[in-house]
Amino acid sequence: MQRFSQGIVAFENKCVHRGYPLRHDDSGRGPLVCGFHHWRYNHEGLALGIPNCIDMFGKAPREIDARLNRVELAQAGGFIFGRFADPAGPSLEAWLGPAFPILKYTSSFMRRSTDAAKFAVNAHWRYIHEISLDDYHIVAIHPSTFGKEGYLPGKETRYDQIGPHSMFFRAGNASSLPDMVDQCERGAFFPPRYRILQIFPGLVVSFVPATRLFGEGYWYVVVLHILPMAHNRSKLVSHSFRVPQPETKQAWRKIARWLAWPVIDRIFTFYARRVLREDNVACELLQAHAAADDPPPRLALHEERIGWFEEAYALAVSGVRKGSFRWTTDRIV
Ligand code: FES
Ligand SMILES: [Fe+2]
Repeated sequence: MQRFSQGIVAFENKCVHRGYPLRHDDSGRGPLVCGFHHWRYNHEGLALGIPNCIDMFGKAPREIDARLNRVELAQAGGFIFGRFADPAGPSLEAWLGPAFPILKYTSSFMRRSTDAAKFAVNAHWRYIHEISLDDYHIVAIHPSTFGKEGYLPGKETRYDQIGPHSMFFRAGNASSLPDMVDQCERGAFFPPRYRILQIFPGLVVSFVPATRLFGEGYWYVVVLHILPMAHNRSKLVSHSFRVPQPETKQAWRKIARWLAWPVIDRIFTFYARRVLREDNVACELLQAHAAADDPPPRLALHEERIGWFEEAYALAVSGVRKGSFRWTTDRIV
C-alpha cells in the first residue's frame, strides 16, 4: 500500500520485470523503485523509469506498458482490506455481512493501542487461526488465564457462522449477533461477555474482560493479524485497545478510570502476551509433528468452528466463491 499525491493505492509486492520484491520490510516510504534493476513505477503502477530502456528493450517504457498487479482496496471503518482484481466479486460489505458493522464500529476506538507485539511462529498460519477457533484447549494450554475456572459449559456456547467467517459469544443466544450489529450501528456497543470474531482467513478480533472496578468493567479489544511467511512459518501481529466505557458525569469515576487504566494496561498486556505465547507453542508442536497421512481430527463441540473454517478453506483453494474478497495484505506494497 502506498500513499501518492493522488491518494492511497496498493499493488502486489512484486516487480513485473523479474519478480523482485519492491518493499522488503513491513512498511516503507519513498518512490516505488525496484532494488534489482531500478525500474521505477508511478501511482498507477506503470513502469515509467526503466534504466537504459531503448538499449535493452528496443523501445520506450510506455511502449513496454509494464504494470504492477493492482490490489483493490475497501474499508470497514479503519480496517483496510485488499483483493486482486475481481470485478464479479462481492463488495467488502456484502462479503463481511454482519461482521461489517462490527468491524466498522470496533475500529472507531482503535486509535492508540495499549500494546503492539509481533511473534514469529514456526507453524503454518492455519494452526494459528484454528487455535483461535478452539475453546476446548483452554484448560490444558491456558491454565492461569482462560482455563483457570475449568471448561466452558456447553450451554454457554453460541457459535454463529457468517459466510466463511464465524463468531463465538460466551453465554450468547440466537439474538446475540443481531443485537451486537444493531448496537454497533448505533455506536452503543459494550461487551457483556467475552466474544471473538474470526474473519477468513487471517483476522481475529476478540473482546476480552480485564477486570471490574467500582461496579464497571474494563475491557480490551485484541486484534490479531495472521500472516503466512512459508509453509511452516507465520507472523502474528497483535494490537490491544481499550474498549471505551459508557460516558459518565461522575467526577470521582472519571478520576478512578484515569488512575486505573494505565495499571490495567500493563497487567492485561502481560497476560495477553502469555496467552498468545502459549498458543504459539502449541501451534509449533502441531507443526513439528504434522504428517501428510494424519487422520482427520475428531472435533468436539467447542471445536465446531474449525470444521467450518476448514470447509471455507477447502472452497477457497479450489476456487469456489464463498465470498471472494481474499486478503492480500501480506503481499501488497
Ligand atoms: S526485478 Fe525489478 S527491476 Fe529487475
Ligand atoms: Fe488459546
